[in-house]
Amino acid sequence: TDRYAVFGNPIAHSKSPEIHARFAAQTGQDLHYERILAPLDGFALSVQEFIQAGGKGANVTVPFKLEAYDLATELTARAQVAGAVNTLVFDDDLIRGDNTDGIGLVTDIVTNAGQPIANRRVLLVGAGGAARGVILPILEHSPAELVVSNRTAARAQELAAQFGGRIQARSFDEIQGEFDLIINATSASLAGDIPPLAPALFGKQTLAYDMMYGKEPTAFMRFAAQQGAAVRDGLGMLVEQAAEAFFIWRGVRPATASVYQALRQQLQ
Ligand code: ATR
Repeated sequence: TDRYAVFGNPIAHSKSPEIHARFAAQTGQDLHYERILAPLDGFALSVQEFIQAGGKGANVTVPFKLEAYDLATELTARAQVAGAVNTLVFDDDLIRGDNTDGIGLVTDIVTNAGQPIANRRVLLVGAGGAARGVILPILEHSPAELVVSNRTAARAQELAAQFGGRIQARSFDEIQGEFDLIINATSASLAGDIPPLAPALFGKQTLAYDMMYGKEPTAFMRFAAQQGAAVRDGLGMLVEQAAEAFFIWRGVRPATASVYQALRQQLQ
């Protein structure tokens, strides 16, 4: 039985073990996936111990995605651009780092929600690690434009500079017109807060996507729905990033719909 794990702190509430157990059962893969609570100052050591114990791969969550990036001896292009790693593959002495968050988001939007990105106006709110991780996969779908807006304007400008004209940084009060897709990549929802977005940015054609999820719609989703927008939370992104990690490790692509539905029911 091959061993995998998710490293985080805290980690008790991670749904990844259940998701991967469901993928394994569905595809007939013989693997075990556990939670590992790494000490805040002991992530690298904790991973090394897991490798010694025969671990084949791992997911990495808050607050270790940047440390996982540093720990990796090889990085995929999308992990390099994200500056963060959520998936590790242990291969003899090599530690390969990848980032499946962005492809997870894009798959959930385009395939599951049926909202195309190509030639659409996209607004990404936030400029932290969560936002950075999804920019390249969004750009690969050739949006008409990608605007990034952040409370601290300088961080959005840094992102725009890094992507050399393919994205535009705008302050909240500079953004104009309706968007087809508005993605909340801030952590504002954790505090029940909403970024200060004008109601006119949302319309009946808009999909408002919050990377957070929970039993109840987030404040951002409620605000967007009041403007007539369709809304979606980040549960599908969670399942899709896991499916991509599972594919990297096992070479088999699990079906995600039934797993998504099971998790959704548990939230009720
Ligand atoms: P993560 O890895 O989740 O992206 P992060 O790097 O700390 O975490 O970034 C958090 C993001 O949420 C940032 O874009 C932050 O804005 P600042 O750069 O101005 O700090 C944003 N954010 C957090 N709380 C917010 C709030 N109440 N309103 C608006 N933006 C908020």
